[in-house]
Amino acid sequence: MRSSVILFKRFNTSFYHRLSSTYAVQEIQADQYGIPNEVLKLNQTTTLDSNQLKANEVLIQLLASPINPADINTIEGKYALLPSSLPATFGNEGVFQVIDHRASNEQLRPGDWVIPKMLQWGNWRSHAIVSINDLIKIPSDIKIEAAATLSVNPCTAYRLLKDFVTLEKGDTVIQNGGNSSVGQAVIQLGKLWNINVVNIIRNRDQGMNELVAYLKSLGAEHIYIEEDLRKETLRSTLWSTIPRPKLGFNCVGGKATSDLLRVLDKSATLVTYGGMSKQPVTIPTAEFIFRDLTCQGFWMTQWKKDNYKGSEFAKMLHELIGFIRHGHLKPPKCQTFSLTDYKVAIDQAQQSMNTKKILLTP
Ligand SMILES: NC(=O)c1ccc[n+]([C@@H]2O[C@H](COP(=O)([O-])OP(=O)(O)OC[C@H]3O[C@@H](n4cnc5c(N)ncnc54)[C@H](OP(=O)(O)O)[C@@H]3O)[C@@H](O)[C@H]2O)c1
Repeated sequence: MRSSVILFKRFNTSFYHRLSSTYAVQEIQADQYGIPNEVLKLNQTTTLDSNQLKANEVLIQLLASPINPADINTIEGKYALLPSSLPATFGNEGVFQVIDHRASNEQLRPGDWVIPKMLQWGNWRSHAIVSINDLIKIPSDIKIEAAATLSVNPCTAYRLLKDFVTLEKGDTVIQNGGNSSVGQAVIQLGKLWNINVVNIIRNRDQGMNELVAYLKSLGAEHIYIEEDLRKETLRSTLWSTIPRPKLGFNCVGGKATSDLLRVLDKSATLVTYGGMSKQPVTIPTAEFIFRDLTCQGFWMTQWKKDNYKGSEFAKMLHELIGFIRHGHLKPPKCQTFSLTDYKVAIDQAQQSMNTKKILLTP
């Protein structure tokens, strides 16, 4: 919240001309780990002043930041990377707009959109002063939803498809959690790169037809429920038309994963990147030995750590933005809540079979 502003409208967003330089910051924080809505608090005690800005810093304002499953795990204290100390601000990704800078700073100007690339940095905050070296500038002509959800899930889908098996046109990958945000990006990138993507989703009493229609609208051609993996359906209908999968993506664990492993091709690779069922990955022994399977894990955060200094991350973001601009990559459907409504937002994000990504906005 600003003490005094003149607001100009430009394109689908807005930027501010500064009369007064004081910003009241809202941050979603916790001073202990635990059940998210029991430990999270809205902190409104911090104030930022643009006079604090150093030459290489900018003052940024939140446009939107999603609540991802990893954020919930982090608040619970169960994630592999936790804040260095508490209290901490949470939220692992988001898009911000530069609203103030030092005149000498030519790299970023008010109105520019940026994605923070720091690890362990809470995005669920209305404003921040950040070094320009920790920000990646992105174009402001894509939807805020697409920008806010760009740096974790589509990047994960991109790396899953690129880094494990060399896929040729016409090859097949199979994934569970096919309707997850990562899964939706895999569907769209797979279509773009001429890869067959077999999508396994959970059965549901309500909304199945709508979900299947939505995934088809993204380009999904092969959609099955988890139970189909144990039936003859796939053998008789699918593997006679497309090759068996060289690569499998697992974000579920438990039985869903053991069943998925059985339909992989000989010498295939299974990459586990999530554990939504909270069940361990159990590899059927005979499949593992006699069909020479490879099982690996992937963690986008580790990839970002390994590539922090280089330009690889920005390059991938810009390639993905190109796909977004051409209509090849859509963000998940989103529902927006203000930071002050974080409790409702957190509850909504934890609903089972929730079809929308929850975004926090100022
Ligand atoms: N390793 C990495 O670097 C990395 C990066 C990004 C994401 N991830 C992980 O990938 C997973 C998906 O993330 P996201 O943001 O794409 O999630 P999302 O959009 O919130 O979707 C969640 C997905 O998980 C499924 N799911 C939820 N509870 C389940 C359960 N008990 N059993 C089976 N499936 C269940 C949902 O299916 P329904 O619709 O049927 O509920 C949905 O497909 C998460 O585990 C996340 O932490 C990992």
